Amino acid sequence: MRILFLTHSFNSLTQRLFVELREQGHDVSVEFDINDAVALEAVQLFQPELIVAPFLKRAIPPSIWRHHVCLVVHPGIRGDRGPSALDWAILNQEDSWGVTVLQANGELDAGDIWAWSEFPMRQASKASVYRNEVTTAAVEAVSEAVARFAGGDFQPKPLDYAHPEVRGRPRPLIQQSDRTIDWQQDDTDTVLRKIRSADGAPGVLDHLFGRELFIYDARPEPTLCGKAGEVIARCGGALCRATRDGAVWIGHLRDRQAAHPFKLPATRLLAAELEAVPEIVPDGNTGNREIRYQERDQVGYLHFAFYNGAMSTAQCEELRRAYAEARRRDTRVIVLMGGPDFWSNGMHLNVIEAADSAADESWLNINAIDDLAAEIIDTTSHITVAALHGNAGAGGVFLARAADLVWGHHGVVLNPHYKDMGNLFGSEYWTYLLPRYAGDASAEQIARARLPMGVREASAMGLVDAWFGRNKEEFERLLVERAEALAHGPRYASRLEEKLHRRRTDEASKPLSRYREEELEKMKLNFYGFDPSYHVARYNFVYKVPKSRTPLTIARHRRSQPAAATR
Ligand code: COA
Repeated sequence: MRILFLTHSFNSLTQRLFVELREQGHDVSVEFDINDAVALEAVQLFQPELIVAPFLKRAIPPSIWRHHVCLVVHPGIRGDRGPSALDWAILNQEDSWGVTVLQANGELDAGDIWAWSEFPMRQASKASVYRNEVTTAAVEAVSEAVARFAGGDFQPKPLDYAHPEVRGRPRPLIQQSDRTIDWQQDDTDTVLRKIRSADGAPGVLDHLFGRELFIYDARPEPTLCGKAGEVIARCGGALCRATRDGAVWIGHLRDRQAAHPFKLPATRLLAAELEAVPEIVPDGNTGNREIRYQERDQVGYLHFAFYNGAMSTAQCEELRRAYAEARRRDTRVIVLMGGPDFWSNGMHLNVIEAADSAADESWLNINAIDDLAAEIIDTTSHITVAALHGNAGAGGVFLARAADLVWGHHGVVLNPHYKDMGNLFGSEYWTYLLPRYAGDASAEQIARARLPMGVREASAMGLVDAWFGRNKEEFERLLVERAEALAHGPRYASRLEEKLHRRRTDEASKPLSRYREEELEKMKLNFYGFDPSYHVARYNFVYKVPKSRTPLTIARHRRSQPAAATR
């Protein structure tokens, strides 16, 4: 079926649906919802049989929904209406939530219902619930709705508030006042809930050291406590603030009035104010533990839950130290776990943007990632596995490929390309890794396509070695089983021997250092050359400058159009 996605942006949910519906055999094209005329033009060009709106911030114009079935994905249970569905669900401590696929009509979120899917709520940030539970439920509900539409005889059900199963209600746009933290009164759970309900956007507005700041990336501190509201410690990029009955770590802040008005690590934004605050080293019990190591049955599991998967120079260095320590352990397999939401998205573009010299910081950051990638590739003492619990993008994909094996679960989406970031050449030894694992033809295809891919395609392309588990829980269980089987299997020694042999042969034919030099030569031009494309693209990304047109890689209906017809 020809399906047009009308969407505010090509976000994680849209990417996952794009991957899934294409795998189901549909012809999917995407148009960003920039204005009514552009949307209408896309409809005329593509002549879709069905329109799906995975992520919209405005209503679909009547000129479209009157003539085409438009299925809107609403991140709420049946009957829920309004633009702050998940925010309210978290704040109101809903036990279960859902996704409803409804047909656009003249009233927002009130159209006839084609399908829905529900899930138990998890204590996590809004963005995390969106990227995980909501996305999985949306895939289920949209697939069902599309199948029903294709069947031709399904009658969608009108929204009926008298129906006992319709639990949702219309809710207004949430305001900052709905989640203002009262540091004297709120307990830790309440503080976390308020922060999480607004994380990733817009963040909870708060005051610290006389500054008005939005706060993000919160986790509970198990042991420290202090006078409610006071900042009592710092650790890595995070600060620790006491609550009435404990304390929370806050990893990221945004000061809309500052020179760099975007999210930054808390200790970066408040460097001067935090000088006198005691710094603590995380241990098993306390601290902001972005990096964690666990060991079981000769398998080491290295977790690195970096906010948004972004890895700054300091974080790469810290991770490299932790990895080196993991290598020194008497284990057989090291599993690089990444974080629960992202495995890695490469260099930390916000930290780079805020640096005195963005070019210098880019250089430091890419070298720090390369140092880490080199250590992984060069590991001959262990079999290494990258376990993708969440998505990976750009350098993060190739960093994963530096491991001997890449495993993921069914819902993982990879973006194995750099070019969208102002034609960035990319490093992380991708010029070695991609032909080595994908072969020259697939390597060329991956680099050219600039499209997200699911694990099925990534596996066919050599980017992923195995995918398993219907959901994350099953993935984790099977992951441990597989890692232990790898460590104790009869082929362990020969596998390690083969790896050593392969590495020696590859090194003799072209040393790793040469790949790095060649890649960094090109990156130097991206960072310091005459063409400012990378700096412009990074600025637009960090400042979230809205796209003025849909990239032709995904707006397939515009590809054969002459330039004048594509605006
Ligand atoms: N540095 C800093 N922040 C990053 C980041 C990075 N490398 N990658 C993602 N983020 C942030 C986004 O700004 C966004 O922030 P928010 O919480 O304020 O909304 C959040 O992570 C989620 O990213 P988003 O783009 O909304 O996620 P997505 O799932 O829709 O898209 C990617 C995933 C990987 C395609 C996209 O984030 C991307 O292109 N990232 C940049 C990758 C890159 O070029 N890295 C540098 C080269 S190695």
